Amino acid sequence: MNIALVYTSKTGNTKELMDILCNLFREHHQQQVQLYHINSFPLTRLDDYDAMIVGTYTWGSGDIPKEMTPLYHAFEQQNVKHLITGVVGTGDRFYPNFCGAVDEFRDMLFVHTNLAVTLKVELTPQTQDLERCEKFVKLMLKRLQEK
Ligand SMILES: Cc1cc2nc3c(=O)[nH]c(=O)nc-3n(C[C@H](O)[C@H](O)[C@H](O)COP(=O)(O)O)c2cc1C
Repeated sequence: MNIALVYTSKTGNTKELMDILCNLFREHHQQQVQLYHINSFPLTRLDDYDAMIVGTYTWGSGDIPKEMTPLYHAFEQQNVKHLITGVVGTGDRFYPNFCGAVDEFRDMLFVHTNLAVTLKVELTPQTQDLERCEKFVKLMLKRLQEK
């Protein structure tokens, strides 16, 4: 299975979350897992993957960071209904729209792809989030096995 994890991160929280998820996929013997910063991900190749995980922080008042907008539109424009997807993010409950960017991606991915699971983490991943990360990976792998 060919799995891409694509993320953006300004202060490192989302990168940390994506590193954890990437390692968990590898622990589950998924060797074909690649982690990309959004700036080095080829947007024209969504079709190359069996599954994709989007990782994003939230900006403004519940907004998708601007560097993630081309990826958002790529899902809308390419024929990827078969693609299994997951979306994760870090945010801060101080803001009224906690992890709003995850919700934005979730709604679009639900329409245009085979959305399996979402995960929101408050700022830096904590010990109690590891179990949630493990659950996320297991649900993604379950959906892949059903394919
Ligand atoms: C200007 C600004 C606006 C933000 N707006 C939101 C928001 O609307 N909702 C939210 O959950 N977090 C918001 N955050 C918090 C970040 O999403 C959070 O710190 C996140 O973990 C940063 O991820 P990163 O370390 O990967 O860059 C905002 C942070 C800043 C500085």
